Parts: sequence; C-alpha cells; structure tokens
Amino acid sequence: MQSAPITKYRPFPPVQLPGRQWPSRIITRAPIWCSVDLRDGNQALAQPMSVEEKLEYFDLLVKIGFKEIEVGFPSASQIEFDFCRRLIDEKRIPDDVAIQILCQCREELITRSIEALRGAKNTIFHLYNSTSPAQRKYVFNASRADIVKIATQGTIWVKQHSRPLVAAGTRMRFEYSPESFTSTELDFALEICEAVTDLWQPTVTDKIILNLPATVEYTTPNVHADQIEWMSTHLTRRDRTLISLHTHNDRGTGVAATELSLLAGADRVEGTLFGNGERTGNVDIVTVAMNLYTQGVHPGLDFTDINGIREVYERCTRLEVPVRSPYAGELVFTAFSGSHQDAINKSWAVQKPDAPWDVLYIPLDPADIGRSYKAIIRINSQSGKGGVAYLLEHEFGFSLPKLMHKEIGRIINDVADAKGTELTSADVHDAFRQEYLERTAPVALQHFKTTERDSAVKCDATLTIEGVAHKLTGDGNGPIDAFVHSLGATSLPQFEVLSYSEHSLGVGSEARAVSYIQIKTARGHTLFGAGIDTNIELASIKAIVSAINRMLAKR
Ligand code: KIV
Ligand code: ZN
Repeated sequence: MQSAPITKYRPFPPVQLPGRQWPSRIITRAPIWCSVDLRDGNQALAQPMSVEEKLEYFDLLVKIGFKEIEVGFPSASQIEFDFCRRLIDEKRIPDDVAIQILCQCREELITRSIEALRGAKNTIFHLYNSTSPAQRKYVFNASRADIVKIATQGTIWVKQHSRPLVAAGTRMRFEYSPESFTSTELDFALEICEAVTDLWQPTVTDKIILNLPATVEYTTPNVHADQIEWMSTHLTRRDRTLISLHTHNDRGTGVAATELSLLAGADRVEGTLFGNGERTGNVDIVTVAMNLYTQGVHPGLDFTDINGIREVYERCTRLEVPVRSPYAGELVFTAFSGSHQDAINKSWAVQKPDAPWDVLYIPLDPADIGRSYKAIIRINSQSGKGGVAYLLEHEFGFSLPKLMHKEIGRIINDVADAKGTELTSADVHDAFRQEYLERTAPVALQHFKTTERDSAVKCDATLTIEGVAHKLTGDGNGPIDAFVHSLGATSLPQFEVLSYSEHSLGVGSEARAVSYIQIKTARGHTLFGAGIDTNIELASIKAIVSAINRMLAKR
C-alpha cells in the first residue's frame, strides 16, 4: 500500500442535493425484483451453466416468485440463444413471468435478439451502452454526443425491428441502461436517459425501465442514494418511468446501496441469489428481500426453503454460499459465545408463537426459512451453561434443574478445553453420561427395595463400596430419606439432600424416569447426581449414588 499521503486514489465527489429526502424515509413496500443470475451471474462463472442447469435454475427462480428474469445475452452466444428458444418453444415460462434479454446497440445484435424472443408472451428488451467519461475516453474514444447517438440509434432499431414481434402478440417492454451510470456525470446520464425516453415514448401503463447500474461500486451507499434521488427528481417523465437499481458489490456495500436507493425512490432491483456476479458480485437479492421481511415488509419472494434454494445454487454455479452469508450461511443461526447462548435461551423460552419476534441475537426465526433450531447451539470452551443445558434438553431430552446448569457448564467447558476443539452434541451427551449416569465406583447399588409401614417407609439396600458388599436397612418419610438414613451404617461421608426433581425420558412403554438430586457435603459444598431407571424410585436412589461417587471423586 502507498504510505500517506495517498495520491494514488481520489475521493468520489459528493452529489449536490441539499434537500435530499431519502434519509428520513422508510421502505414500506417491496420493489419489483429482476433476477440477473442467468446473465450477469452466469457470465461471471469459471464454468458457465449448461443449458440443463440453466433450465433448472430458471424453474427455481420462478418458484421463488421472480416475475422478471434476465435469461441471457442471446445475440452474443449460441448457447444463450438456444436456451432462450428452449424456454419459449417448450412453453416453460409462466404467463405472468417476463423474460428479459440483454443487448448492445448494434443492429444485427438487436435483430438476432428479437429472433430469440419470437413467440414469447411477456418480454423485456434490455439495451445498454457505456456512458462514463473513462469509458468514453479509453474504450470508445467518443464524445458525449456520439454516445447519445449510439443509445438513440439502438432504441430506434429496437422499436423498428420489434414491430412484427409485438404485432404477433408478444408483450415487449423496454429497458435502457447507461452502463457505468454511477461513474457518469449526472447531467449526462439524465441527458441520455431523456433522449432514449423521447424516442421510446413510454406511457403510464407501459413504462420505460431506466436501469441505473453501479457497474463498479466506487462510493459509499449514501452517494449512490443521492445519485438515484437526483435522477428520480430530474427525469421529466417520472410517472412513465420505472427506476431500476443494479448494484455491484466492490466495496461490500451493494445491499446498503440498494436499500438506501429504494428510499431514494427506485422502483425495481436487479440482482442475483447469494450475490453471484462479476468480481465481488451483484447485489444479493436474498439479503435485500429478507432484510425487508424482518422489517415487516413482505418481499413477494419466497425463501421458505432456503436450504433447497442454496443446494440448487451451489450445484449449478459450483460456488459455495459462505458460512457467514446472511440468512443462508451455515453458521448464521449458530451462537458460539456462552453469553449469547444464554440470552437466546432466555428470550426464546418466553417467545410466544404469534407475538412479534423478540429472540436476542437472532433477528429472524430460522423456521421461517426452513432452518432448524437444532443448529443454533454449538459447544466449545467458551460456551456458557445455558447452551449446554439447551443442547441436553433439545437433543437428548434431559431437562436439568436450573441450579445444575452452572455445574454441567463447567464440566463441559473442561472437556472442551482438554479436547481443544468444538464438541459435538454426542460429545456433550457422552460427557454428561460419564460424569453422572455411569458412575458405579467406588459405590455401586446392587439392590434396593422399600416397604411401607404406617406413614413411614423402610428400605433394604445392598451396596458395594470399593468392592465390599454392605447390606443396609433404613427408615424415613420416603424412599430417599430411608436410603440416606441407611447409609449412616457405612463409613461414607455424611451429606444432606438439598433438592430433588425428576421427569420422564421418552414416551410409552419405552419411557424411563430421570432424577436429579442435589446434596450438600459436611464441608458445605453442593453438587448434583443423576440417575435413570424405568422405576422412578430406583432412578432417585441411583441419583444419590451418583452424587456420592462424585463427592468421593472430588475429595
Ligand atoms: O453491471 C452492469 O452495468 C451491467 C449492465 C449490462 C446492466 O450488468
Ligand atoms: Zn452488472
């Protein structure tokens, strides 16, 4: 990098728009969406999609709910032409979906594009030419007037050559893009758009689409919004114009630029699923749409099965959706931090099904897009008690008493520390079983039976302590009390039972009971034990033995 002062790069000049309106607006309705996956997205793939893959992808876009789909640049390649023909000839396009094709302002390309559209019901002819000073200077060596002439001549040819198509019943709308709009002087962008509009003669019911691309993203999103508001307020036939956005993501702010520019008055958004496209990509329509949804505005696109959509996308494009990609990334509903897990648990526990979504750290109910709650908690040495308890409950059915959360959290953190990696849910389950349920040394329960006498309970128990059998009897006000009294005849350290809880595990004839017992040692330490049995009484006695063994292990 150049050391300061930086002379290699220049700041983008701001737009003079003193009365700008967009900063105080909010988005209240969804824009018209146009997918450019099959054109802008496809042309950016190392291995472009085959016709079969494009057909599958087209069906996916239709299923999601796109009503405008740019299907290619049929005059530029035979595959794109054939794809367009197959869509039409095989009647794969629903009547309410318009296919859009891109074309340069050259007569032979325009006639070929119209040929590609023959027989289609609903189409958009998308004409473009580059307009920025750098493009005029380095690529075209042309004046402003020359560039206007290219666009207007192109418009005349489209109008002229599309007459037979329209006469044969095709609805054809017209879109014009001053490519590199955001790097073009605003007065010139306006001049060329006005010249094209003059020729096209749009009406209120058949509007022209003026697509204003950020072909390369050079500015902060507020400048983009200013550019769009400036155009929106200077166009003479605004009521006969749809302003379309087409942001690329070079600065990583394509979504923000799109959102602010919707505030600035744009009507339509071109973009791709998951932001595929040249260099850093086109704007990610999934994110823009779902951002709207989480603000209470239905986007009119259906991402209920985001995993299925991602699967088709990854297979057809041979790209991967990054794990942190909003909404669709593998890790976006996963909390690693213990305090986050705790907050998620607490807020989720009180979330009512029909109440406004108020779960902390997760701005969207994962179920809305077909994602699972199970993936939310992952355990590592930083995870908190809440996360471990959540996982044991939701994956294995152990509803641990609240007071036990801290103890199990510490145990699992130690296991994760020792392992040095994240724990799977099976690891957590194993650690829980070994620590509480499978402790049979030094004390093991061989036999336990109670008989009731008046309001008291008598127990007969056989224990082995370090391999030596002990036959014990005891009385108490219940089985636990009787068992604890019976232990007085042994050399085991004394303790007091502080709390007891139990619940069933599983249902029907398979159901077992799990008990949790908290004890306090003579030294004042508290700890838990847990036991499982089909017999609820035995489950609680096993839980006491588990607590005793844990107490002895700590001494
Ligand atoms: O990024 C761009 O400017 C384009 C145009 C052809 C619309 O893709
Ligand atoms: Zn583009």
